[in-house]
Amino acid sequence: MEFKVLAIGDVVGNPGMERVRRKLRQMKRNTGADFVVVNGENASVVGITPDQAEDILDAGADVITLGNHSFGKREIVNYLEDTSRVLRPANLAPQAPGRGWDVYETRAGDVAVIDLIGRCNMDYTPDNPFLLVEKLVKNISARIILVEMHAEATSEKLAMGYMLDGRVSAVWGTHTHVPTADTRVLPKGTGYVTDLGMTGPRDSVLGIRPELSIARFRGDLTERYRWAEGPAKMEGVLFTLDTATGKCLKVQRVDESD
Ligand SMILES: [Fe+2]
Ligand SMILES: [Fe+2]
Repeated sequence: MEFKVLAIGDVVGNPGMERVRRKLRQMKRNTGADFVVVNGENASVVGITPDQAEDILDAGADVITLGNHSFGKREIVNYLEDTSRVLRPANLAPQAPGRGWDVYETRAGDVAVIDLIGRCNMDYTPDNPFLLVEKLVKNISARIILVEMHAEATSEKLAMGYMLDGRVSAVWGTHTHVPTADTRVLPKGTGYVTDLGMTGPRDSVLGIRPELSIARFRGDLTERYRWAEGPAKMEGVLFTLDTATGKCLKVQRVDESD
């Protein structure tokens, strides 16, 4: 039996939230997705509120993943303690609130989702995601295991993909917000892509108004980052899995845009 997993890139600001509300169900239907994971760390640009998390779940997500902006909105802290549907990276310091992985019941049996964060050119406080995920994968009995690697460096994401090849069903990257063209099944059967892309303003620098980003790089006095207006897009990847083996059969980009 086939089981289709839709993974959607970082939702940015109100335009990203609007896109999810208007388009996620349609994409779920069109792709025949059985299970949907959405990265929501930028719903408030820096962080996500409980209301935004509820909206993304209502729009059809089964699980929301987060990243370096997990706690940008402090009101999410209590919410994270009470829900299993929103994951922050599993390798954050042990005192971090919430959980980094869980197992969900589906028509194909148990599906585990693990959220991880990389360390290259990022915060140095998380634990080594490579050593941690090996321990987790050994102890999870679900046949289908999905791993998100929220990281800056393409090498760190690829290395994670190859290390887990044959041991999990899919590994996808987030955080850089630019979709990569390297969707593939790795040699031992793990579906892989270096970056899902993002959901939000199409004409933007990673979701942000270009002039604000340009000012930062020019060295001008800068304002607080705000999301761009105008046409929007939703970017993600569809992994078709074989439920008998947990291996990935096919990986496709499913980007849509105004
Ligand atoms: Fe992001
Ligand atoms: Fe990020």
